[in-house]
Amino acid sequence: MKKLVLSVFVLSSLLFAESATQTCKKCHPVIVDEFENSMHRNSTIYSDAIHKAVWDKHPLKAKDEYTCAKCHTPNAKNEEDAKEGITCVSCHTIKDVEVHANVNKNVYSKDAKTFYSEEPGREGEKVVYKKESSWFGMNTSSVGSPYHDIDYTNEKFYNAQMCMGCHSHRKNSNEFMVCETSKEGAKSKEENCITCHMPKVDGTATTIRQTQKHSFHGFAGTRKNPQMLSKHVEIDFKKSSGGFEITIDNKAPHDLMLHPLRVVELRVNLLKDKKATPLKTHSFARVIGNEEGPSMPWLANKVVVDTMLKANEKKSIKYDAALLSGDKIEVQLGYFVVNPKALKKLNLEENEEAQKFTVLKQQHFTVE
Ligand code: HEC
Ligand code: HEC
Ligand code: HEC
Ligand code: HEC
Ligand code: HEC
Repeated sequence: MKKLVLSVFVLSSLLFAESATQTCKKCHPVIVDEFENSMHRNSTIYSDAIHKAVWDKHPLKAKDEYTCAKCHTPNAKNEEDAKEGITCVSCHTIKDVEVHANVNKNVYSKDAKTFYSEEPGREGEKVVYKKESSWFGMNTSSVGSPYHDIDYTNEKFYNAQMCMGCHSHRKNSNEFMVCETSKEGAKSKEENCITCHMPKVDGTATTIRQTQKHSFHGFAGTRKNPQMLSKHVEIDFKKSSGGFEITIDNKAPHDLMLHPLRVVELRVNLLKDKKATPLKTHSFARVIGNEEGPSMPWLANKVVVDTMLKANEKKSIKYDAALLSGDKIEVQLGYFVVNPKALKKLNLEENEEAQKFTVLKQQHFTVE
């Protein structure tokens, strides 16, 4: 009886215009709550100050041609839609991804009420909900969703190629590759963009069919929930003649950071007799620009400097320091979201998040 009341409530609320995400929340509350805080939800000029700062400098702004929409506010038909950012429906209706040299393209299915999803063991299934015959049958049968159909047959949801319409690469009008995510991460079903950035976490995927776990929809990344990714980077210490070596092992199948605004830093402190001495900080970045030096992405035609940790790269950094048994080495690997050198140009000097140094991984070693 309880479920029947719920379904009538849901049905009637669907008759009112409300954001699709709020509709999903009735049956997927855990997922929607996570999503509200993600960068996909907050990918717009209204909710991402860093995106807005770059757009404000863009030459197309004067012409009001918001070409970023393709990825930052897909499928938005008006300004109200655009404020929603990337929505549940836009991702779950990606049918295919067309590969192009400058930028890929998402192919969306025409049917806005059938959602693609992934579930091992159900690869061949299409779950169709028939309102007339089974709406009230919901009490006895929990197959499918009483709101939408589900299509489990789309391979791109298993190997994560559905992420690659927006994330693969982008060339600017100089035919210069502004950013690129290696395709290696979107090949296997066992480890890919989805398994790392949407790991299984506790909590039910729907209120109607209880599950132990669900795929994390807060999307672990640079801006949000980076601690969920720290296990994919390893730091090691080795004593060597005249000093020591710190090794960083990037287990991600792509450059550790992908956006050209980022700067990664390795910070090392030597602790001797309770006194901490900071050693030289090493920076890792892929800076793009032109003949005049670093530039905004649309003006770039070359890589100015590229020291970024590459896909699956293991990099050793040497330090000269006389070590004694009992000394401690404190290592921090972290990053700035916006290169400190670009803060002023982007008018982000007052923005806390843009200036913050985020520690991705921290480790201590004791000299034997
Ligand atoms: C009236 C309740 C209800 C509403 C509203 C609803 N869903 Fe669902 N949804 C379900 C149920 C129940 C399932 C589980 C079906 C199953 O496992 O057989 C489900 C499953 C799914 C799945 C696939 C899950 C899997 O097993 O992989 C996706 C994706 C999904 N919903 C997305 C959405 C989106 C996006 C919205 C909002 C536009 C939405 N749902 C609104 C009830 C609902
Ligand atoms: C419709 C385009 C689109 C699709 C599809 C898409 N993304 Fe994104 N993603 C974006 C945009 C745009 C941003 C940057 C938003 C911002 O920072 O303003 C982003 C940001 C991210 C981030 C960084 C988050 C952070 O906190 O820094 C991760 C991780 C990510 N996406 C993973 C994925 C994965 C995994 C998939 C596939 C399941 C995927 N994305 C599918 C457009 C997309
Ligand atoms: C082809 C898809 C695509 C297009 C078009 C696109 N972006 Fe993005 N953008 C992304 C993705 C994916 C990310 C996340 C990448 C990452 O975090 O490394 C992103 C991240 C960003 C970020 C970093 C935000 C942060 O999290 O700090 C900025 C700034 C940005 N985009 C600006 C723009 C602007 C301005 C435009 C339009 C002129 C634009 N983008 C067009 C896909 C796109
Ligand atoms: C950036 C793309 C993207 C967005 C946006 C997105 N999803 Fe998903 N979602 C996925 C992918 C990929 C999977 C399959 C992951 C898996 O099961 O391994 C998934 C799985 C699901 C599932 C399956 C159950 C589970 O195990 O988690 C449900 C339900 C769901 N999504 C609902 C939603 C709702 C509701 C929203 C909006 C609040 C949403 N999704 C937004 C990509 C997305
Ligand atoms: C083995 C795990 C792993 C896989 C697989 C993986 N990533 Fe990542 N990803 C990471 C780690 C680690 C980071 C860096 C830590 C952070 O951003 O906080 C990262 C960072 C990112 C970022 C943020 C970069 C930036 O500059 O802000 C995006 C966007 C992203 N990954 C997208 C993807 C996409 C798309 C795929 C699939 C093609 C993918 N990742 C596959 C582990 C993984």
